[in-house]
Amino acid sequence: MKKLIIANWKMNPQTMQEARSLVSSFEHRMHATSTYTEVVICPPFVYLPALMHYAGAISLGAQNMSWADSGALTGEVSAVQLKQWNVKYVILGHSERRLYLGETDSVVNAKIIAAFKHKITPIVCLGGEEGAIKFEMKNLVTKQFIKVTKDLDKRQLEKIVYVYEPAWAISTMEKSEPATGEHAHELIEHIYQLLEHRIGKTSRMVRVLYGGTVNKNNVHEYAMYPEIDGALVGAASLDSENFWHVVSEFNREAIHKEKI
Ligand code: PGA
Repeated sequence: MKKLIIANWKMNPQTMQEARSLVSSFEHRMHATSTYTEVVICPPFVYLPALMHYAGAISLGAQNMSWADSGALTGEVSAVQLKQWNVKYVILGHSERRLYLGETDSVVNAKIIAAFKHKITPIVCLGGEEGAIKFEMKNLVTKQFIKVTKDLDKRQLEKIVYVYEPAWAISTMEKSEPATGEHAHELIEHIYQLLEHRIGKTSRMVRVLYGGTVNKNNVHEYAMYPEIDGALVGAASLDSENFWHVVSEFNREAIHKEKI
């Protein structure tokens, strides 16, 4: 199973030109790591058409989508529309959408169902909620997992990419602090247990990632755990050298693991 490194550009960069030059600055390097690592770029919607032709070297993802296929939903974008731009993944349940836009577990659940209907793979964030407290993360993750995966079948549960991303670890949050590798590993094991409870032994075939201030200085702390299947990267994904370092560290660990 390939490692997955997901760039969440959020509402950046400011121009299409910058978006293009950011991707072209690392796109050629991705061929070297593509055997073991898949890189997903999630730009703002408006840049998807401009980045579409890079799909292949990289995969494209959206940062959100609607639960509906069409209709009177001002400002929303549907899975049907995203498919036109080669979008393969969609980030759902990100803590910024929960905190600033009032997204709830049941909305996230409806969006996951819509993504599957149109064969877009959901990247589901767990751990983001107002006032999330470090020593209560297992309870929060359990509660969110149960609600956002309501009514999903075994095959769907296996296909989701889960990200443990505690709100307090996101680099732009006030008093943010990245999770230690040990904490991330412990919560990722917890997500595997929740999955095992629902789908049995195949849970180990599912991808579970960490997100929250991952960058070139701390990536080793996460990549060294074989159970951490990759990272969701925000701020560091806007700097091509920093991002490349994150990709190559996970790639190196994947190669190393295969050899032993
Ligand atoms: P960060 O963002 O890497 O800047 O903490 C991650 C995210 O919010 O997805």
